[in-house]
Amino acid sequence: MDVVIREIQAADKAQWRTLWNGYNQFYASTVSEAITEKTWQRMLDERSSIYGRVAVVNGDVQGFAHIVLHEGTWVIAPICYLEDLFVAPETRGRGLARKLIQSLVDEGKAEGWSRLYWHTRESNPARKLYDQFTDVEDFVLYRMNL
Ligand SMILES: CC(C)(COP(=O)(O)OP(=O)(O)OC[C@H]1O[C@@H](n2cnc3c(N)ncnc32)[C@H](O)[C@@H]1OP(=O)(O)O)[C@@H](O)C(=O)NCCC(=O)NCCS
Repeated sequence: MDVVIREIQAADKAQWRTLWNGYNQFYASTVSEAITEKTWQRMLDERSSIYGRVAVVNGDVQGFAHIVLHEGTWVIAPICYLEDLFVAPETRGRGLARKLIQSLVDEGKAEGWSRLYWHTRESNPARKLYDQFTDVEDFVLYRMNL
């Protein structure tokens, strides 16, 4: 299996869209066309702090990681928030998510980011993978939709 992790590109749109739909189904959520299009455009816009990375298997986009680089009050260097992670159901269990996360670790070390973090549901079985990268923290998330 030939796997390449790379930056998302304009030509990935159709395959990314299929994965994005699957991701939204996984979370039983409906993201409007306007938001989907804005998210896509932001990932291609070099002025935006949202970036996309994709896992390409034998030429096909089979997974993505969406990240946000932001500033913080406790550090000088950028902080990387891994907001979305998804692998096509038919390609799971072959290490694509591990490669996507590892590529962010490698990129962050090379670029001088201070931190990489992400949230997940307590019950997400993918925690088996996450636990191999780092220890879980005991913070809980409070969120208000405004
Ligand atoms: C989570 C997800 C991205 C993992 O992708 P993946 O490419 O299958 O993961 P990997 O193959 O890199 O997994 C590596 C290891 O983690 C384990 N693992 C990862 N996801 C798992 C899952 N959903 N259930 C059980 N084990 C899982 C694998 O068993 C594997 O362990 P092993 O190497 O010891 O056998 C994928 O299952 C997915 O898209 N799920 C739906 C969306 C989701 O949950 N996204 C994350 C939100 S925080």
